[in-house]
Amino acid sequence: MNQAVLTVLVDNQAGFGCVAEHGFALWIERGEQHILLDTGQGIALAENARTLGIDLGKTDALVLSHGHYDHTGAVPLVLGTAPHVRVYCHPCVTEPRFSIRDGAVRDIRMPHLSMHALGILPLARMHWSGEPVRLGEGMGLSGFIPRRTDFEDTGGPFYLDPLGQRPDTLPDDQALWIATEAGLVVCVGCCHAGLINTLLHLREITGEHRIRAVLGGLHLGGASCARLEKTVQALREMKPGLLVPCHCTGEGAISYLRDHLDCPVHTGYGGFRLDTAEL
Ligand SMILES: [Fe+2]
Ligand SMILES: [Fe+2]
Repeated sequence: MNQAVLTVLVDNQAGFGCVAEHGFALWIERGEQHILLDTGQGIALAENARTLGIDLGKTDALVLSHGHYDHTGAVPLVLGTAPHVRVYCHPCVTEPRFSIRDGAVRDIRMPHLSMHALGILPLARMHWSGEPVRLGEGMGLSGFIPRRTDFEDTGGPFYLDPLGQRPDTLPDDQALWIATEAGLVVCVGCCHAGLINTLLHLREITGEHRIRAVLGGLHLGGASCARLEKTVQALREMKPGLLVPCHCTGEGAISYLRDHLDCPVHTGYGGFRLDTAEL
């Protein structure tokens, strides 16, 4: 089974000479395959890739976890740099999107330049799908994640219109999984579908019940105590081997997870590396 090396390329926190940015991007090398999960907002990706010696021109597949600006801003850069890249995303990834907090409306959709870049990519290289997809032997995408738990939501005041009349359920939110001999390594962008919903779905579609590691944004910053308690309760049953919360997880939530789980919880940052051979 091919091992993978994961490198956080963009995150709210940075190490190893990287720059920080509110956003997320993860570089995955597995055998001959090079996959980029999300791109951050647009500034940090190229700079951090240079710092870390990563050649974005080798990107075989660009996966968009969902359509928020802080995950899709460097799409034009990646498509312009990697000549043969294929793109995987849900058809709703270009929907108009707004965050409305205390009456303040923010447009948080994918930037227009990124939408344009996707729009002019040859159709054969665009994989618009809400279904589970294989990216190769022992690796794939969740597709749409069914909402099964009664305690998880999208994690924010998200709407499809600036008046706040149509809630955005983020149907485009998807996770990437890698099978290892010790179980699944799960990579998420913001996890708007909810961490437990995501893990339940991946266990079902892969048939693998062991969760070796979870890495990415968990969007638990505004989570209620009840949600955190139930998340921990479910995780204790699933027994993940390692959590690497990044980006939008929230410091309070990371502390809570660290205090209440038996597994290691390492906060992620730009430059963080995980070699699945060492798990
Ligand atoms: Fe995000
Ligand atoms: Fe998001």
